[in-house]
Amino acid sequence: MADVKISDSIIYIGADDKDIDLFESQYAVPNGVSYNSYVILDEKVCVMDTADNRVTDKWFANLEKALNGRTVDYLVVQHMEPDHAGNIARLAEKYPEMKIVGNAKTFPMMKQFFSIDGIDGRAVTVKEGDTLCLGSHTLTFIMAPMVHWPEVMVTYEASEKVLFSADGFGKFGTLDTDEDWACEARRYYFNIVGKYGVQVQALLKKASALDIKMILPLHGPILKENLGYYIGLYSTWSSYQPEDKGVLVAYASIHGNTGKAAHKLGEMLTAKGAEKVVISDLSREDMSEVIEDAFRYDRMVLMASSYDAGVFPVMEDFLSHLKSKNYQNRKVGIVENGSWAPTAGKVMKSYVEGFKNITLAEPVVTIRSTLNEVSEKALEELADEMTK
Ligand code: FEO
Repeated sequence: MADVKISDSIIYIGADDKDIDLFESQYAVPNGVSYNSYVILDEKVCVMDTADNRVTDKWFANLEKALNGRTVDYLVVQHMEPDHAGNIARLAEKYPEMKIVGNAKTFPMMKQFFSIDGIDGRAVTVKEGDTLCLGSHTLTFIMAPMVHWPEVMVTYEASEKVLFSADGFGKFGTLDTDEDWACEARRYYFNIVGKYGVQVQALLKKASALDIKMILPLHGPILKENLGYYIGLYSTWSSYQPEDKGVLVAYASIHGNTGKAAHKLGEMLTAKGAEKVVISDLSREDMSEVIEDAFRYDRMVLMASSYDAGVFPVMEDFLSHLKSKNYQNRKVGIVENGSWAPTAGKVMKSYVEGFKNITLAEPVVTIRSTLNEVSEKALEELADEMTK
C-alpha cells in the first residue's frame, strides 16, 4: 500500500492499479490509477467508499490491517461507479451488522448492481446537510449530483476539517507516481467531469463555506497544502475559462499534407508572437490529451482533410468529444483540405457554430491538396487573426 499518512484516526486503505490498460475502457493511463478509500476509526468505525474489483484482495487486506480486529459499523457510499463501489456487496456480506449510508439516488442504483441481504433494513438514507456522529468525528453529507454521476455526494468531517471529495480533485496516476498534479488532474477533469462544469461550480460554492484543511479524493494524491491552488484550478476549469494563453492546432491529415500545413501554421503563429503553440495529430495522439489542451488554451485551429463528402473521421470524433464536454468561450480557426470537393470546413463549422460563445476567426482557409501561394497567404491571414 502507498504510504499515505492522513491522521491517527483516518487511515488510507486504497490501492494502486498499475496493470490497467484503459481507465473506463477509454483513457490511457501510463502511470496507472489509484482507487482511494479511507476508514475512520472512532467509537464507531466508518469506511468511506470501497474500491474497484480489480484490487479487491489488496483493498480488503488494507482494511483488515487498519481495523486491527475491529468491525465496521458504517460504509458511506459517495459514488456508485464500479471503480469505487466494486466491493460493496462483499463488504456487506463480511460485516452483516454494517449500515450502508447513501442518499435517495444511491440505493436504487446499488440494487441494480448488487443483491445485498437485508439492504432495506441496513440502508441509512441521508440528504443535504444531514450528519452522522461516529464519536469525536461527525460527518456532514453534501449532495454533489452529476459530479460525476447523479448520486454523488461528498462528506465533510469537521473535527479534522477534512473533505472527502469523491471524484472531485481526482487525478490519473498511482499514488507513487512522481508527476505534475495539474497535468494529469486536468486530463482527468475535462475527460471525465468536464461536461458538468455547472454542477462542479455549485459544489465549489458549497465547499467555500467550509473550513477545509485537507481534501481526500477518490483518485490521486491527498491534498494537504496550498489548497487555494487546486481550488483555483477547479474554479477555472469548471467555469470553462481558459487556463493559459496559447493556440492548439489540432489536425486530421490522411497523407501528411494537412499535417505539413499545420506545422507551417505553427511556425507562423510562433513568429507572430503566440505565447504557446501546441500541434496535435488527431490520428496519433491520445484523444484525451488533445481534449485537455483544447480546454487549457484560449484559442484553437482545426485543420482537416475532406473525406467521403464530410470530414476525416478523427476530426469528427474530436469535435463530438468537445461538444459533449461543453467546449465554449474560445476563439477558433478552421482550415480544410480537399483535392476535388472540399467538404471538411462545412462539417467543422457546423460543430463550432453549436458551441457557446465562440469567436470564429476569419478567414476559413481552403487548401487544395497542398499549400500553394494563395492558401499560404490565407493561412498567414488566419495566423494574424489568431495572434492579434
Ligand atoms: Fe472514479 Fe466516477 O468514478
